[in-house]
Amino acid sequence: MRKLSLLLIALMAFFVVVGCSSGSDEPAADEAAEAKTMETLVVGYAQIGAESEWRTANTASIKETAAQLGVDLKFSDAQQKQENQIAAIRSYIAEGVDVIGFSPVVETGWETVLQEAKDAGIPVIMVDRRADVPRDLYATYLGSDFVAEGRKAGDEMNRLLPEGGKIVELVGTVGSAPANDRYSGFRETLADNIEIIDSQSGDFTRAQGKEVMEAFLKNYGDEIVGLYAHNDDMAIGAIQAIEEFGLVPGVDIKIVSIDAVRGAFEAMIDGKLNVTVECNPLLGPQFYDLALRAVNGEQLPEWVPSEESVYYPDNAADLLPERQY
Ligand code: AHR
Repeated sequence: MRKLSLLLIALMAFFVVVGCSSGSDEPAADEAAEAKTMETLVVGYAQIGAESEWRTANTASIKETAAQLGVDLKFSDAQQKQENQIAAIRSYIAEGVDVIGFSPVVETGWETVLQEAKDAGIPVIMVDRRADVPRDLYATYLGSDFVAEGRKAGDEMNRLLPEGGKIVELVGTVGSAPANDRYSGFRETLADNIEIIDSQSGDFTRAQGKEVMEAFLKNYGDEIVGLYAHNDDMAIGAIQAIEEFGLVPGVDIKIVSIDAVRGAFEAMIDGKLNVTVECNPLLGPQFYDLALRAVNGEQLPEWVPSEESVYYPDNAADLLPERQY
């Protein structure tokens, strides 16, 4: 009996030792999983649309960088519709991509689909625009400080209109982070002697910027001494409306806009636009770097801001050839 017990104890000890050592010789499934590289990374990207020159440059940066790095990119264009973006994110979850990137067209209404991505173990990176969701539903946000852009635009309007006066505002897509933040940032710095007499959305497009500016001119005519446009495309559309109305853009109506796309530099060279505040769309390289780090388990900061500047007509012609977008 004693011999039998000793044999049992010896057998148990053997299995414990074998059990432990097998843990180090043959790693557990997750330990065995190879770290992802750019060449093995599969990315689903739900883009907003192609509403502006800025967006075209942003899309090119996302696509071209993927091709350079050898990333397998699945890309969709939601044509400015939140339901299309949600459907695209769901299809990427179903396909089992490694990571999802998206620019939320508006700030609200994303919790359910982002929870689905989280439940599927797929990290999500918000690019360019932020959504108003709890911190645990996204890996990081890569994009601009839209409030700071609005503040800079306010400072520039003050400089252009030292005597004050009446101005109008072309707002971006209603409910989007850049429209909300550029609206509030501008009001933080705008001088008391400048009055915003009307503020309407032009949905970040050239066509609607022109249409809304036509209505402003019809209602207020040459009372308007300044225009603040939340992006260059709307400003360029408005410039056409101002010229057709018989006023001189950049002179009779001072214009401050945001993005710093090539079209804005051309308008500044022609003297029709006074200032453009930069919003950098070339986010591809930073996006894939963050995507790979998220997939490989790294904790990322809540926000990775992009660096931006302000541009004026005096050196627009020198800078235009170097502009990448
Ligand atoms: O989200 C960034 C904004 O979206 C750009 O300023 C605008 O041009 C674009 O459509």
